Amino acid sequence: PAATRHEAENAAITLGVVESNHAGHSGTGFVNFDNVAGSGIEFTLTAASAGTATLAFRFANGTTANRPMDVAVNGSVVAAGKAFNGTGAWTTWQTTTVSARLEAGTNTVRLTATTANGGPNLDYLEV
Ligand code: GCU
Ligand code: CA
Repeated sequence: PAATRHEAENAAITLGVVESNHAGHSGTGFVNFDNVAGSGIEFTLTAASAGTATLAFRFANGTTANRPMDVAVNGSVVAAGKAFNGTGAWTTWQTTTVSARLEAGTNTVRLTATTANGGPNLDYLEV
């Protein structure tokens, strides 16, 4: 099936704000995480059936430093310190993927920044 896009600005944000000042984002904006460990976001999504899915995160990181985040599905970390490397500019958006099992029905996908730099700017999750 075609991927479903989940805009970051519609998800549950912890220590971050919705902004739109960097061009190229999808939807009405993106999430600018506070530059602290623990900033993050939680998406709630529905899967028609259980199985392995590709989680595609679109982000920008205008610095040269990685902004790693833990990726947790239904409360279990599936990718610890997932890299969100520099993209060259805050207006340059790239996609990075994680493969994870989803259950039939409702699932949560949570990103949590693991360093004092916080997360990158996050545009959306496609599943
Ligand atoms: C800049 C940029 C923000 C970004 C921030 C950061 O302020 O405009 O969009 O989130 O840097 O370093 O996290
Ligand atoms: Ca930020």
